[in-house]
Amino acid sequence: MTTRSNAPAYLTGFGNHFATEAAPGALPQGQNSPQKTPMGLYAEQLSGTAFTAPRAENRRSWLYRLRPSAQHGPYVAFDQGRVRSGPFDETPPNPNRMRWDPLPIPETATDWVEGLVTYGGAGDPDAGAGAGIHLYVANRSMTDRVFYDADGELLIVPQQGAHRFVTEMGVIEAQPGHIVLIPRGVRFRVEIEGPVRGYVCENYGSPFRLPDLGPIGANGLANPRDFETPVAAYEDVDRPTQCVQKYGGRLWATTFDHSPLDVAAWHGNLAPCRYDTARFNTINTVSYDHPDPSIFTVLTSPSETPGTANIDFVIFPPRWMVAEHTFRPPWFHRNVMSEFMGLVTGAYDAKAGGFAPGGASLHNRMSGHGPDQASYEGAINADLQPHKITDTLAFMFETRAPIRVTKWASESPQMQLDYDDVWSGFAKGQVE
Ligand SMILES: [Fe+2]
Repeated sequence: MTTRSNAPAYLTGFGNHFATEAAPGALPQGQNSPQKTPMGLYAEQLSGTAFTAPRAENRRSWLYRLRPSAQHGPYVAFDQGRVRSGPFDETPPNPNRMRWDPLPIPETATDWVEGLVTYGGAGDPDAGAGAGIHLYVANRSMTDRVFYDADGELLIVPQQGAHRFVTEMGVIEAQPGHIVLIPRGVRFRVEIEGPVRGYVCENYGSPFRLPDLGPIGANGLANPRDFETPVAAYEDVDRPTQCVQKYGGRLWATTFDHSPLDVAAWHGNLAPCRYDTARFNTINTVSYDHPDPSIFTVLTSPSETPGTANIDFVIFPPRWMVAEHTFRPPWFHRNVMSEFMGLVTGAYDAKAGGFAPGGASLHNRMSGHGPDQASYEGAINADLQPHKITDTLAFMFETRAPIRVTKWASESPQMQLDYDDVWSGFAKGQVE
């Protein structure tokens, strides 16, 4: 195997037009597809949006590789495992609030693809709307296997363990606290050190982007400079490599006679990246009341309705709480949007117990939810001094469409059948 570097290096910025080469001179200058590319590389355009998407929306990169991506045999059906896809019709729509304990680390050898478990989702990849929601657990690296998703962009939220995403556009290292964004179609392998667990939002809709900031101004929330895209790195490996893809809701596989992670240079604005949530510039009230959690939006996939996301990625990071005469935790609410939550580390400030790191909860459209009784009692009786919430990272995938759960998730041994009880003991208000 030939690799140019084991230590990943990164280019910074979100949505930038990057240019990177693993070997000096590999990247053509001045045009995208010269008659003869340098070093006999093959030029390939990877389109993340329609050719004719407006310039501000258009995402594409030019890849210069050892062999054309087209050089492979037919794809055949691959073991679907517990991967499911939109349209989610395995179970009837279910308005119930749900919560799951963490998925156990498997006892048998399981790589990242084999360890994907779909909990549910909304919409349909064919329609280009909605999202699939998956968790994963794995205890071995992918070996001689790569994966790509033709149905959606992948937003990966590691919860446990060290991850190394070896993509065709470069190498990304990630650990809990990072998120990794891999565009639709980009092939990658996940290498791990020890067991890993995490969450995946498979975005069928328009690519994630940074939210507009409105009156916040030019800075704040996730700053563009903190998104890190890997420099080009290629493998020159003449060994059979299985390529698994998700297409049309199904998993498919073919075998290349070489590693398809063989891009020696690329340029463009369609590329994987990582973001360290510790760099999130958290904005919150400095007077009273708890702002809507949209103030914590990291990335948004807009729908055609302004301000109404196909799906948002929102974090609840460490932060100061200083509001006066205010119920500080998230309030009770019922939401037209549907909320799938996960917890990377620590505790979430609206739940005293039961929501464990690696666990998940689902509060679907218009379902009543909010703090549990212990959190509520604590909040209304607290002496409200400035207080810092530390060592916590919860997040939410929030979508405009109801989330339908898979059969597996609805029957999972990790499902907490008594979840409703967290709201069962509130004393009645006294109207006089
Ligand atoms: Fe909520």
